[in-house]
Amino acid sequence: MTYRRVAQLRTADNFRDYTAEIGADLPFDEAVLNGSTSPLAQPYVYRGKVIGNRFCVLPMEGWDGTADGHPSDLTSRRWQRFGFSGAKLIWGGEAVAVRHDGRANARQLVINEDTADDITQLRQLLLDAHAEHHDSVDDLLIGLQLTHSGRFCRPNSHKLEPRIAYRHPLLDGKFGISSDDAILTDDEIDELIEDFAKAAVLAQQAGFEFVDLKHCHGYLGHEFLSAIEREGKYGGSFENRTRFLRNLVEAVRRAAPGLDIGVRFSAFDWMPFTPGPNGMGEPEALPNGRYPYAFGGDGTGTGIDLTEAKQFLDLLAELDIQLVCITAGSPYYVPHIQRPALFAPSDGYEPPEDPLVGVARQIQATAELRQHRPELLYVGSGYSYLQEWLPNVAQYVIRHDMTDFVGLGRMILTYPEMPADVLAGRTLQRKSICRTFSDCTTAPRNDMVSGCYPLDKFYKDREEYDRLMAIKKAQKET
Ligand SMILES: Cc1cc2nc3c(=O)[nH]c(=O)nc-3n(C[C@H](O)[C@H](O)[C@H](O)COP(=O)(O)O)c2cc1C
Ligand code: SF4
Repeated sequence: MTYRRVAQLRTADNFRDYTAEIGADLPFDEAVLNGSTSPLAQPYVYRGKVIGNRFCVLPMEGWDGTADGHPSDLTSRRWQRFGFSGAKLIWGGEAVAVRHDGRANARQLVINEDTADDITQLRQLLLDAHAEHHDSVDDLLIGLQLTHSGRFCRPNSHKLEPRIAYRHPLLDGKFGISSDDAILTDDEIDELIEDFAKAAVLAQQAGFEFVDLKHCHGYLGHEFLSAIEREGKYGGSFENRTRFLRNLVEAVRRAAPGLDIGVRFSAFDWMPFTPGPNGMGEPEALPNGRYPYAFGGDGTGTGIDLTEAKQFLDLLAELDIQLVCITAGSPYYVPHIQRPALFAPSDGYEPPEDPLVGVARQIQATAELRQHRPELLYVGSGYSYLQEWLPNVAQYVIRHDMTDFVGLGRMILTYPEMPADVLAGRTLQRKSICRTFSDCTTAPRNDMVSGCYPLDKFYKDREEYDRLMAIKKAQKET
């Protein structure tokens, strides 16, 4: 299936006609404003603190820390670029494991007594870069994303060392789990909650204003939300499936009073996809014709029902948590709904839908959720595939209260200045626009540091580049 390149949709009519043709509900403003009149430049007052504009940098790891969880020069460079972007909300920086066995890769950052000074320094580098290129840092809000990778733990090497909430009929086979040994006991979960609390104390001492208690992308927090078949206090009913979150919140508040809390969650999920005969993604076979394991799913495996996601927002409000970042699915088993891309990562599949449809799905879900609980602060995700049309859609969704912040992931890797350029009314630097080549995903899936190899000369010049190109060539030939 060939989809039209966004770069070819040169006029507003082209974009409107094409999105209508493919059924992507993507409203946009034809004219993007700049300066103080821009909706994207409007401050947001959050609990008395002014956040200076409506751009947010989404968390993005680089698989480039040290074996014992310290940041490297590559990590520092990325955080400096986050600060340089001009976005005034930094949602988490990147996923930081609360302990060694919860790392998603052997180069993921870990926050502990040994690494805390370096993580403090990362935040400072971001602040310095922001101060150097932008007016003030007083209106910048920076959080740290805390995680345990659950089913996708690879703490020591590329080998999976999963710790899971429940046995899953499809994901177990796909990711090599064949016994109950991987299941975390209730006591182990209680211990892990204390590890999150210790990590939160260190994050607070490092100067972060909030911690994100990650509940997305198939990692442990997210897995609890669909643990319908787990016995005991952490599974079954909605109340039990959200006990992990509630206990985390209680432990973090006890250990680090005054530290704010945010939650990034996958508001909907689908069943795992796999390459079909022509390489195009297709859903795996349904167990018993129903798929009840997708939080925010409608039971078919490929449909959405936001009833529980709304209940989750009610719970966040009840817990006095206002910072919410909406995302979807998982990069491991449904990458096309999580990070819409034209080019598949090496372990993925050809997109089964135009990626603009995936962008629209996340935008519309965020709008529906925001309508349910408008008093919370929302960050939306998945905008990078909009490319040249990103500023137009971003302005529209802010103007129409479909989200409060436009979160940018991959676009920041290639083109960190995009928010600053949009706000200043400068012409977009087309050569820097992320074209969703997925090399930032393919590289780490093949044990290389993540970065924008195709468009960022810094990565093009690294020794990994040739290896990555060889892997992609081999992939094309198969
Ligand atoms: C290289 C890479 C690393 C990522 N790391 C994280 C992470 O550490 N935590 C997280 O919540 N999401 C992570 N994501 C997901 C992004 O935050 C974002 O949701 C996704 O890329 C879609 O947004 P985009 O279209 O702007 O890229 C990562 C994405 C990429 C491409
Ligand atoms: S490698 Fe670069 S162009 Fe490709 S998806 Fe990642 S950020 Fe975008």
